[in-house]
Amino acid sequence: MSRVAVVTGGGSGMGEATCHELGRRGNQVAVLDLNETAAQRVAEDLRAQGVAAIGVGADVTDRPAMEDAFAKVRSELGPTTILVTSAGLFGFSPFLDLSVEAWDRVVAVNLTGTFHACQLAVPDMLTAGWGRIIMISSSSAQRGSPEMAHYAASKGAVLSLTRSLAREYAARGITVNNIPPSGIETPMQHQQQAAGILPPTEQMVANIPIGHMGTGDDIAAMVGFLSSDEAGFITGQTIGVNGGSVM
Ligand SMILES: NC(=O)c1ccc[n+]([C@@H]2O[C@H](COP(=O)([O-])OP(=O)(O)OC[C@H]3O[C@@H](n4cnc5c(N)ncnc54)[C@H](O)[C@@H]3O)[C@@H](O)[C@H]2O)c1
Repeated sequence: MSRVAVVTGGGSGMGEATCHELGRRGNQVAVLDLNETAAQRVAEDLRAQGVAAIGVGADVTDRPAMEDAFAKVRSELGPTTILVTSAGLFGFSPFLDLSVEAWDRVVAVNLTGTFHACQLAVPDMLTAGWGRIIMISSSSAQRGSPEMAHYAASKGAVLSLTRSLAREYAARGITVNNIPPSGIETPMQHQQQAAGILPPTEQMVANIPIGHMGTGDDIAAMVGFLSSDEAGFITGQTIGVNGGSVM
């Protein structure tokens, strides 16, 4: 069955890989990203592979823009029954230097942006009596992360949001899960390495039991499964894809 999937942050990294996996599984895909050019590029790649896809530029923190984005998806593809929230903003600062503005922006993108997307997608899922929500969180929320309090706290709240929505909608055919990645090679990771925030790849690999970095495709494979009918008995879960870094 061809369902409509919305992927926030779909223009890059694991969101982009997820768009391809969901398309490969026969879904129509709306690629939503702050970077509209990237969203359009990914949508074009998908269409070239025969997937019905649109690119939508929107900032997940902007409620009116998100309302317009979901309305566009509904009119051009149909009601949304799969939602993946991959849009995220990394943050790094010693706690005592952390500005209120930096705290607010990271929470706005990672948590409030996820809230907006969920609240705009759930009505279509309730009407369909079927839905899949997969939020991308972070292993920093499981471990705690020094000098990343705002980022880790915003992602920790995503774990709680997952469990709360899972319980609220379990009997209505909607499952809600999250994936906390770690050690996934993406543009975000490369930017952090270039800024000296993350160590070089060899050093990161030394802390990954499986012995190599993961890719966006590793995340996309789990999202693909969680979005399927087969995963219908899995809800409220935090499922690490991290090479064994967090057990
Ligand atoms: N790479 C890792 O190892 C890792 C580890 C833990 C968690 N994560 C999380 O995984 C998710 C995806 O990260 P990635 O590594 O693929 O990064 P990425 O930078 O490659 O992709 C993130 C995308 O989100 C988009 N985005 C950012 N802010 C947005 C906003 N306000 N509105 C709409 N779109 C916005 C960006 O334009 C970008 O296309 C993020 O939520 C990130 O926090 C990544």
